[in-house]
Amino acid sequence: MDRRTFLSWVGVGTLASSLPVVLAACTSSDSPEASTPESSPAANADGFTEVGKLADLESAGSIVQEDFAGAPLIVILNPEDKTQVVAFKNKCSHQQCPVDWNAEGGTLDCGCHGSKFKADGTVANGPAKDPLPTYEAKLEGDTVLVKAG
Ligand code: FES
Repeated sequence: MDRRTFLSWVGVGTLASSLPVVLAACTSSDSPEASTPESSPAANADGFTEVGKLADLESAGSIVQEDFAGAPLIVILNPEDKTQVVAFKNKCSHQQCPVDWNAEGGTLDCGCHGSKFKADGTVANGPAKDPLPTYEAKLEGDTVLVKAG
């Protein structure tokens, strides 16, 4: 075997032996598209996700989550019907600051520039002009459920 033929065979052998490594790297299940976030609670079959218990909501006045389906969440009891819950994307429509539930005033208050929102999310006091985005929410027994989307 001459030198040229030998080097040719070495090249083909090196390429063939590295092919499985290349294929394994390309088909890794660690890619972001293939994985699901393990920290997010799974939604029920009807698309609702448990975000807390009624007792927590009653004692704290609201349930706040920093990341619910990619956005902050605030859930309150409907002050006009305490058997119902209402849920909002917790970003003021003025400049995206979070709001807090003010049980005494019955409003969701933004501390940045003073906007207030009624318990249905509509604007009670500006500078915000648009309502808070809402989520579908419900109580099932003592479980507070919110539907993303
Ligand atoms: S961000 Fe809420 S009032 Fe400006």
